[in-house]
Amino acid sequence: MSQQGPAFDVNAMTLTRWVLAQQRTAPAATGDLTQLLNSIQTAVKAIQSAVRKAGIAKLHGISGDTNVQGEQVKKLDVLSNDLFINMLKSSFTTCLLVSEENDNVIQVETERRGKYIVCFDPLDGSSNIDCLVSVGSIFAIYKKHSDGEPSVADALRPGRELVAAGYALYGSATMMVLSLGTGRGAHGFMYDPSIGEFILTDPSMKIPEKGNIYSINEGYAAEWEPGLKKYVEEKKNPSSGKAYGARYVGSMVADVHRTIKYGGIFMYPATKSAPNGKLRLLYECNPMSFIVTEAGGVASNGTIPILDIEPETIHQRAPCYLGSKKDVEELLKHLK
Ligand code: AHM
Ligand code: MG
Repeated sequence: MSQQGPAFDVNAMTLTRWVLAQQRTAPAATGDLTQLLNSIQTAVKAIQSAVRKAGIAKLHGISGDTNVQGEQVKKLDVLSNDLFINMLKSSFTTCLLVSEENDNVIQVETERRGKYIVCFDPLDGSSNIDCLVSVGSIFAIYKKHSDGEPSVADALRPGRELVAAGYALYGSATMMVLSLGTGRGAHGFMYDPSIGEFILTDPSMKIPEKGNIYSINEGYAAEWEPGLKKYVEEKKNPSSGKAYGARYVGSMVADVHRTIKYGGIFMYPATKSAPNGKLRLLYECNPMSFIVTEAGGVASNGTIPILDIEPETIHQRAPCYLGSKKDVEELLKHLK
């Protein structure tokens, strides 16, 4: 008698398997990047479990700050940062870490050092954490090229030099999107909690050439430059065709992921009071621009491609306009 039941994929392309296969296509590869990406994957799995409140007592305690064991409960962003740092250090593949949560670079102890530098935002969208709206993690990986002790200068490299970048979106499902650059595309892996693995569900993601959604915090419109005001006005009241829809989650990972999937434009502009916008170059703008570019989109600071910016400080900000090629190009004409 044949057993009925849902089809079970007995040959699933997991993220680990996919990364390993990529490594095998590069004859000189040592396996370090594979190990590094595995450590990030572990951090992301743990963060997604925490975000989903899988261990409510551990995360909230019963009455506030302490959990059932009487231990101090860590806030989700602190917990995520600790997970990233611990997993990356113990992968033996990194020498320098830059985290949104730490004022200074983190040097990995000599005995645990490897050749990679990782810039990350462990839990982006902090204002959305407490109300259960989507949040994400973002990471950017460089290789150290200089000799000697790792220093800040090793992390202050343009996004073009990234070896890999990715993000995890803790949305209605958890997804990791990863790119190894140089035209190899951006690939999406959905988390399957039943087996605890990320499965390739969105190979070679392609952002539509043009979309019909604009995404920006319109609350600051009074502070925008005239070209941007005009652009958004035209999206709302077009001389021909349909108006664009407006969508703004307020979590960069969610807004950018939607932009890649559905097309359109995401903007975090320069404003009068914040001439460089809000988003951070090293671990927000660069990795997201790297992925959008690999998916066939465009990412600019209004003047030059984001990936060409020469960073000067680790926490510097940059205006960020990214998305469908035609939409971003149209905006850039207005900004000039
Ligand atoms: P965070 O790193 O403090 O979470 O801030 C970054 C977030 C992005 O995810 C999002 O695009 C932006 O801040 C939203 O900012 P605003 O509330 O000013 O629109
Ligand atoms: Mg952030």
